[in-house]
Amino acid sequence: MIFETHAHYEDEAFDIDREELLNKLPKQGIEYVVDICSSVDTVDRVLKLADQYDYIYAAVGIHPEAAKELDEERFAWLSEKARHPKNLAIGEIGLDYYWDTSDRVTQKKWFERQMELARELGLPLVIHSRDAAQDTYEMLKDAKADNLGAIIHCYSYHIEQARQYLNMGFYLGIGGVLTFNNAKKLKEVVAYAPLEQLVLETDCPYLAPVPYRGKRNDSTYLTYVAQEISKLKNVDYDTVVRVTAENAKQFYRLKNGE
Ligand code: NI
Repeated sequence: MIFETHAHYEDEAFDIDREELLNKLPKQGIEYVVDICSSVDTVDRVLKLADQYDYIYAAVGIHPEAAKELDEERFAWLSEKARHPKNLAIGEIGLDYYWDTSDRVTQKKWFERQMELARELGLPLVIHSRDAAQDTYEMLKDAKADNLGAIIHCYSYHIEQARQYLNMGFYLGIGGVLTFNNAKKLKEVVAYAPLEQLVLETDCPYLAPVPYRGKRNDSTYLTYVAQEISKLKNVDYDTVVRVTAENAKQFYRLKNGE
C-alpha cells in the first residue's frame, strides 16, 4: 500500500469534503498519511487530524515563508506541540528564496532553531528548499543533519545537488511534478537516485500529476507518480509502491502494525 509522506489536508481546499475524502483513503490503497504543518495557524489543525484518524500522523514545524510569524514565545509553544505522540518529524522547515515572504536572515534563524528542536526531540526533518540550494545544503551540513535524517521535499534541484543529499543518507520526496512534460531535470534525478532513497508525496492540495495537473490533488493520485517512477527506473509498479513505503516507514520510524 502507498505511503503518502507529505500532505496538507488541513488546507481550506478540503473544507468542503475533508471527512468523506479521509474516510475513504485507506480503502483506496493509502496506508499512511503524514500531514505537514506550514504556517503557525496550521499546527493545531494538523494535530487534530492526527488525533481523529488512526492512519494520519503529523510533522510539526514552520515553513520558511511563515518564518516571520515566529518569536520566542511562539517557538516555545511550537516546541510543546512537537511533543504530540503522533508527531513524527519537524517540518516543513527550510529556506525559500523564490517567494522571499520572510527575509532571509529570519528564515535562517528559525530554520536553525527548528533543527535544534529536532535534535532535542530526536526527530527527523522534512525540508522545504526552493531557489536556495547552496544555503540549505550548508545549513544542513553545519547542523550535522545526516545524524537526524531528512526528506528533501518536492525535490527540484539538479543531479549534482541530489548526489550530495543522497550521500548524506537523505530521501528525496517525489510528487506530481515528475509527470509534467517539462520535468526533464527531475526525471534525470529519479532515474539516477536509488529507489531506496525515494519517497512518494503529493504536497496536496497542490501539484496534482498529469492528467489532473492544475486540479486539486489528493493521495489517490500518487498512483500516477509511482507509475512514472516505475517507467523511469524500469522497476515494476508494485516494487515502487512497496519500496517507497518501506523507506517512509524507516524514515518516520513506523513499524508495520503500529
Ligand atoms: Ni508542503
